[in-house]
Amino acid sequence: MAKVIAFHSSRGGTGKTLIASNLAFIIAKRGRDVALLDLDFRAPSLATVFGVDEARKYWMNDLLDGRCRVGEVLVDLTDRYETRGRLLIGPADPRMEAMSRAARRDRRWQTRALRRLLAMRDELDDRLGSELILLDTSPGVEYSSVNAIVGSDLSILVSTMDLLDLEGAQRMIRDLYRVFERRVMVLINKAVPHELSSDEGRRRLLQELAERFTVPLLAIIPCYCDILLSSRSTLFALNHPDHPFSRALGEIAKRLEGA
Ligand SMILES: Nc1ncnc2c1ncn2[C@@H]1O[C@H](COP(=O)(O)OP(=O)(O)O)[C@@H](O)[C@H]1O
Ligand SMILES: [Mg+2]
Repeated sequence: MAKVIAFHSSRGGTGKTLIASNLAFIIAKRGRDVALLDLDFRAPSLATVFGVDEARKYWMNDLLDGRCRVGEVLVDLTDRYETRGRLLIGPADPRMEAMSRAARRDRRWQTRALRRLLAMRDELDDRLGSELILLDTSPGVEYSSVNAIVGSDLSILVSTMDLLDLEGAQRMIRDLYRVFERRVMVLINKAVPHELSSDEGRRRLLQELAERFTVPLLAIIPCYCDILLSSRSTLFALNHPDHPFSRALGEIAKRLEGA
């Protein structure tokens, strides 16, 4: 049975897309079959990250509208990245019109979309043989992210050490994950290197996180200027496989495969 993992956060910009896309590549490189789907319809990113042609016929939006099957949306990147496992990407429509249409979806549509999301999970599992399905979601508590959380086995709540992100994450664990009784782990991203440079700094950081969060801490990833300096037109872990960022994701991949 395929395992579904959603990447979520209280606010945008915490690193969900960067982490989910590089992790999908690393998991496929390690030999697992993985599908990465864009459910952030208001700020779609995967089409840009993976250079998908805008002239294509179907997007994740069409799948949740019931206009196509999952196989018609997926882009197979296994050969491009020469991964041992199969790497499939489901991009959301990055065009303006699609983004504003997504913002107008009502509750009835969202209910149908949840049913289609669950059916898609079965199809990816049964027919396409994906072992792991990663969902790149929109931040906050809008319907599409709640759908993604409800349709997942595990959510990874990505937060920076910014107070607004931390308090937002705490609130979501209390008011959303507990209510739906969903499994969640916290991933701290963009930690400031000085917090991690000494044993004392690291101890203080872990203590603060333990006081804030009762759910498990998956990892702490530092902020790396190299990432900001590198072009987004390629996957960071592809060009920098031995960088500490890529190695940290390699450790996360191992944990998620066994989780
Ligand atoms: N650990 C990190 N170090 C440096 N820059 C990072 C790190 N994680 C994410 N970023 C950068 O932060 C920005 C927001 O990341 P993104 O993945 O688009 O966030 P989200 O999908 O949560 O909105 C991007 O420019 C990304 O490259
Ligand atoms: Mg994103």
